[in-house]
Amino acid sequence: KPPIIVRDLAVALGLKPFKLISEVSQATGGFAGINSSLDEPVAMKIAEKYGFLLEVKHRGEAVAPQKVKTADTKAKIEEEEQKNLTPRPPVICILGHVDHGKTSLLDAIRKANVASGEAGGITQHIGAYQIEFQGKKLTFLDTPGHAAFSKMRARGADVTDIAVLVVAADDGFMPQTDEALKHAQNADVAIIVAVNKMDVKGANIEQVKSQMQQRNIAPEDWGGETITVPVSAIKGTGVDQLLEMILLQAEVLELKANPKAEASGVVIESEIEIGRGSVATVIVQRGTLRVGDALVCGQHWTRVKALFSDKGEQIKEATPSTPVRIIGWSGTPDSGATFRAVKNPREAERLAEEAEQRTRKEATVAAAEPKEVSVEQLF
Ligand code: GTP
Ligand code: MG
Repeated sequence: KPPIIVRDLAVALGLKPFKLISEVSQATGGFAGINSSLDEPVAMKIAEKYGFLLEVKHRGEAVAPQKVKTADTKAKIEEEEQKNLTPRPPVICILGHVDHGKTSLLDAIRKANVASGEAGGITQHIGAYQIEFQGKKLTFLDTPGHAAFSKMRARGADVTDIAVLVVAADDGFMPQTDEALKHAQNADVAIIVAVNKMDVKGANIEQVKSQMQQRNIAPEDWGGETITVPVSAIKGTGVDQLLEMILLQAEVLELKANPKAEASGVVIESEIEIGRGSVATVIVQRGTLRVGDALVCGQHWTRVKALFSDKGEQIKEATPSTPVRIIGWSGTPDSGATFRAVKNPREAERLAEEAEQRTRKEATVAAAEPKEVSVEQLF
């Protein structure tokens, strides 16, 4: 078979030759030039990386990789993706004003679920956990206030499918309730209102409902569309109804993901643990995360040596919507940052280094640039 010439491949892929040359050098580990010849498997690999399906047509002696990335191949890839889409559990974020009972509600949900007693003392803080209710899995996020939520959103990583807005029945809507509502609306997630503290004296659900109507999120029994569930996190009442409503909402959303893809997802929180180094709790959004995977997350990377479930058990793999703890990162990844699996640890390290250099360069440029004066300052 006649060889494939770098120049021809560049033309076919629509890439600048120098760009391709560096790709080829990396792929083969040697020096390459514009007239270098390539083995077909190497050319295929490079083409694939750019989303092309390489088709080599040998016409006599002359070789030209044919036009490759066509709408057709793209459609094929998408079709494959569609075929692999599988239902996944919903990811639910609990939001609301300070002290309205977010953490208590999360505890109540978990207690209702672990009545079997597997998790005796639920004292330690867990950023994300998964429960099973009526045979279906649900993933909950405990966010310290809505700051984390908006941070995640700002990074374009919408992990949340459903927001549960907790409103204390005695207080009603408060400034942070409104802020949380705004965030949830901006993120375009389904909203369910949990009217908490129904057990306290002075609980006034009608007032909360009228406040909802004023905010254009009228409850269902007021002719609106917002599912509203009265609960008491302390007494545990209404928790099952809330879970049922969440499941119902999740069904409507028809949430799906491709478990066969390379794993990717979002960091929920991270910390340095003595003896374990940098630990990150992540949620897998796509693909299946496995022990042995090489991950890159911004400037940090890791080769997964062990995965831990929200219950602290060691697991082999994590499918979409599963919260999982990963230890042994090269540094501490930021919450809200996205991670993805790459082909090997070397690649992960290289990408992390590149990201670091970019950040450093940006920082230098930002420091060197004269500060712009705003119009307001001028007046
Ligand atoms: P922050 O994380 O500080 O924003 O608070 P939070 O929204 O997580 O509230 P948390 O669950 O910490 O509850 C605040 C207080 O309200 C605690 O003293 C709880 O015991 C109390 N509380 C929460 N839910 C209920 C409830 O349903 N009934 C009653 N009576 N008290 C509740
Ligand atoms: Mg709390």
